[in-house]
Amino acid sequence: KVFNVILSGGVGSRLWPLSRKSRPKQYLPIFGGETLFQKTISRNSGVCDQIIVVGNKDNYQLSRKDLNNLGKTGYHEIIEACPRNTAAAIAFAALVVEPHDILFVTPSDHLINEGDAYKDKIQRGIELATAGYIVTFGLKPSKPETGFGYIEANGEDVKSFREKPNLETAESFLKKGNFYWNSGMFCFQAGVFLKELATYEQEVYEAAKYAFESAKDGFLDEALSMKIPSISVDYAVMEKTAKIKVVPSDFEWSDMGSFESIYDYLAKTGHPIDENGNMVIGTDIHTSFTGLKNVIMVKTDDAILVLNKENAQDVKKVYEKLEQDD
Ligand code: GDD
Ligand code: MG
Repeated sequence: KVFNVILSGGVGSRLWPLSRKSRPKQYLPIFGGETLFQKTISRNSGVCDQIIVVGNKDNYQLSRKDLNNLGKTGYHEIIEACPRNTAAAIAFAALVVEPHDILFVTPSDHLINEGDAYKDKIQRGIELATAGYIVTFGLKPSKPETGFGYIEANGEDVKSFREKPNLETAESFLKKGNFYWNSGMFCFQAGVFLKELATYEQEVYEAAKYAFESAKDGFLDEALSMKIPSISVDYAVMEKTAKIKVVPSDFEWSDMGSFESIYDYLAKTGHPIDENGNMVIGTDIHTSFTGLKNVIMVKTDDAILVLNKENAQDVKKVYEKLEQDD
């Protein structure tokens, strides 16, 4: 059986103020009236038998609403008390199923063309997972993006996995040529994943298992969750496991993770931009830019963000500061 594990617990801090704790970006109906969460569910319905949503107490109602709109029932839900990052989130899903079940783990905030190119690669991923591998999906990098993981590969064999390198290192990866961007989607048998997690991050494994076993109706306890070290699956497992494989992929893929990718997406789909590359998001109020280049202004009902496109990754810091001040 193949389970689509939908990770939906991130707050999308790099998209503040569009993305808020009360309404993270994957639930914004800004993609042709659909949310990215809905698009994720629909895209994977063809390749997976069942759905496991790993969300949190602030957004599970939004997930339910989207699933209901799509007519989905009988899915599993894991509701986190607080985000403990993706290694733990995936461990919870792996604990729901049988060790031999296949998990196809996907973020909930990507825009992907779901045509045959996508389905074929996922099928290949499922084959490799059935054979016992931990599968990643690699995409051809187009720029030295520092917000992604990189996969050094030779065909489907992986030489190394490097999460979020600095700019200099990312540039050297692009020059070398045999590096892919990690798409953020993974495929493996639940038991294989848990074994690798226990090997490389025993504390995460033990604490996640304990919290999972003490959960009530899918709701995790906050105090027990806080005991789980917060580490992403990329650092916890992908950089370390010897069982890793990559499916070199070529489907259209966009991580809507930062204003840079939103900007690129909107620019491609006809959203206005001035002659210096400046863009306004969220308002029709006449806005002029003087002496500025590649600046993005984002307006919501209660906040304005002005940023340099190149500094899109830094928006996370604004969000973190606001959280602290709260
Ligand atoms: N349930 C749950 N709990 N979900 C979470 C949590 C958590 O604590 N933290 C993050 N997520 C979800 C996010 O909502 C998102 O859908 C997914 O997990 C990935 O988290 P991100 O925070 O968006 O990761 P990233 O973008 O920095 O990096 C990952 O994706 C890149 C591609 O988009 C990595 O896998 C990179 O290697 C990869 O290149
Ligand atoms: Mg992301």
